[in-house]
Amino acid sequence: MTSRLAFAAICIALLVTSECARFKRQNDEDETEEKSVEELCENRPPDEYFRLTTDGDCRDVVRCDKADGNIGTRLAGVRCPTGLAFDIERQTCDWKTNVKNCRQVEKPRKVLPNLKTDEPICPDGKLSCGNGECINKDLFCNDTPDCKDGSDENSCSVETDPNRAPDCDQSQCQLPDCFCSADGTRIPGSIEPNQVPQMITLTFNGAINIDNIDLYEEIFNGQRQNPNGCQIKGTFFMNHKYTNYSAVQDLHRRGHEIAVFSLTHRDDPKYWTSGSYDDWLAEMAGGRLIIERFANISDGSIIGVRAPYLRVGGNKQFEMMADQFFVYDASITASLSRVPIWPYTLYFRMPHKCNGNAQNCPSKSHPVWEIVMNELDRRDDPSFDESLPGCHMVDSCSNIQSGDQFGRLLRHNFNRHFNSNRAPLGESNRNFRDHIKFQLLKYF
Ligand SMILES: *[C@@H]1O[C@H](CO)[C@@H](O)[C@H](O)[C@H]1NC(C)=O
Ligand SMILES: *[C@@H]1O[C@H](CO)[C@@H](O)[C@H](O)[C@H]1NC(C)=O
Repeated sequence: MTSRLAFAAICIALLVTSECARFKRQNDEDETEEKSVEELCENRPPDEYFRLTTDGDCRDVVRCDKADGNIGTRLAGVRCPTGLAFDIERQTCDWKTNVKNCRQVEKPRKVLPNLKTDEPICPDGKLSCGNGECINKDLFCNDTPDCKDGSDENSCSVETDPNRAPDCDQSQCQLPDCFCSADGTRIPGSIEPNQVPQMITLTFNGAINIDNIDLYEEIFNGQRQNPNGCQIKGTFFMNHKYTNYSAVQDLHRRGHEIAVFSLTHRDDPKYWTSGSYDDWLAEMAGGRLIIERFANISDGSIIGVRAPYLRVGGNKQFEMMADQFFVYDASITASLSRVPIWPYTLYFRMPHKCNGNAQNCPSKSHPVWEIVMNELDRRDDPSFDESLPGCHMVDSCSNIQSGDQFGRLLRHNFNRHFNSNRAPLGESNRNFRDHIKFQLLKYF
């Protein structure tokens, strides 16, 4: 009886009933596999998604929702859009070909330190490892395992690192060198929304060469102007391979911003997430050196970094950036929400969740600006479509098929920003299909 009740709870919680039917059939055949929600959720963090079954098309996952104390724990389901699958390691939907762990039910567990106890276990200035050992607080999350069980390096997120940056303190954080707000949505200088110009940042990632120079010529043809009469400009995050440096030199000469997208653009997201200080140094500071040399840029204007695949390298990336006088990073994404987020400095804790569980956001304090990428709402008709997870590059809004649809998507997102706090709207592009190029030009 209990197991049947538990199963009913799963069914109610799952959003899609056909999935329920399958889950039931499978369990009827193999009663021993059936687990109650309580069992499934024991010691499982509420934000971790896992699969109930490895059958099916790899789109469905659930998490343990403990929000409502009255009905106890329930399972909340999520289904990736068609064509995508759920990546258990990275805890996000991705193209099916990129997801290699459809046969894996859950993320492997690591030993965690005992940071939250009713009574302190350790003397002042020390914290407890998973095995009860006490070590100095500043040894936690320093990239060297100091606990015998290594647990001091296993709980180092923006929320859990014991040595994390403090919460935003506006009395200490003042423009022009520092800006923060509690939830990230406040307008710098407390300007009234209707007095804020709606900025749009145009950024392009990757090599600059014969494949895309024509498009840049078309977009930046000198005819498109800002309200102050200046021509519009773009930022080019570029990597070395396949780049035509005389084209880069030319873009720079015409006032566009050149920034670094790494030296190698290595095809392995994990390399970026867990890169060492020296990896980041070679990739970004090294990349900048080569651009400066090859494109003859000597005015010190290369100050920005974007991580390939937007895979942020945590504290190591930002330590390197501070040491090398990079001013800003533009790789962290903020998930789609009602009010978008303004750029902020990382002296204080980042004001939003680290988007995507595999992401390695910086937890410590860094003298670096974050030009955060607000996800776009991928719907072109919000009054009709169901709400979907956002997308951060205009060309990754994969459900967009036609040019008109794309045009509507751009206008809808413009209005979302314009009618709330007018946080800069980022339009970041990798490559274009023709209809998208056409709409982009029309939109400008
Ligand atoms: C490189 O770019 C320059 C300037 O845009 C162009 O004149 C030249 O033909 C390009 N070279 C190649 C090999 O594409
Ligand atoms: C490189 O830039 C410097 C200063 O901007 C300029 O004087 C020099 O002629 C340039 N060299 C080449 C090869 O374009």
